[in-house]
Amino acid sequence: MGNDHSPPEVADVSRVTTKTVQEMKEAGVPIAALTAYDYTSAYLFDQAGVDVLLVGDSASNVMAGNETTLPITLDHMVYHAQCVVRAIDRSLVVVDLPFGSYQGDSREALQSAIRVMKEARAHAVKMEGGTEVADTVERIVDAGIPVMGHLGLTPQSIYNFGTYQVRAQDEEEAKQLRADAKRLEAAGCFALVLEKIPAELAGEVTAALSIPTIGIGAGDETDGQVLVSHDALGLSTDFNPRFVRRYAHLEETITEAVGEYVSDVRSRSFPSEGESY
Ligand code: KIV
Repeated sequence: MGNDHSPPEVADVSRVTTKTVQEMKEAGVPIAALTAYDYTSAYLFDQAGVDVLLVGDSASNVMAGNETTLPITLDHMVYHAQCVVRAIDRSLVVVDLPFGSYQGDSREALQSAIRVMKEARAHAVKMEGGTEVADTVERIVDAGIPVMGHLGLTPQSIYNFGTYQVRAQDEEEAKQLRADAKRLEAAGCFALVLEKIPAELAGEVTAALSIPTIGIGAGDETDGQVLVSHDALGLSTDFNPRFVRRYAHLEETITEAVGEYVSDVRSRSFPSEGESY
């Protein structure tokens, strides 16, 4: 925290905005982002100081149990975003536009973004893709809606990639990614997620852009980091890529706690007299 002798850190703001994350890049203060999908988790993450809460379409996987992010709908995303926005005090809430809600044409994309902002009161939207979505980004930004881009491994294109392996390992794809990043910046994106690309390329793109980059599996030279909260908290342990660091082991904790509850119910040791009326 700032005191009488030192200026306040940019991250000490009472409300993180798109301007704050830009200032964090400029001041060299790393941006901490995490996914959130529900009220209770969002409340805890916000209180713990997460700068950016991403209502990711990974909700399709971790909340709904789908194999990919493709099935989740705009209605579902609006619902998750509403729950998250109700909980927060400080974090910037960015909401994924789901597959099928923005690729058709930029008018449809704008309508989707407006729904997210109006119905969920979110602060920004995120879209996957490069040059092919740049005109759409421009249209949404022109309407006053901040847009975060997403390059590298873009899970909505999984059937096109055919694999979740690291992207842009060859020079042709790396060159395209550099060009896409520049195009998205020019289109008005306020930040870019870089997913699962070589650390060196992510560092290069980060240095070449004036907007912040937020990495996931993209090394330590991006302006910030994001993880899927279920991975970071050890709630979904069947997904073990090397970029995930587990800060808790909630799968074990919850399984043990619930097992104890079941056993207390069976043995009639719950509820006790003190837990009854
Ligand atoms: O949907 C999501 O969780 C994401 C992050 C992995 C960046 O897009």
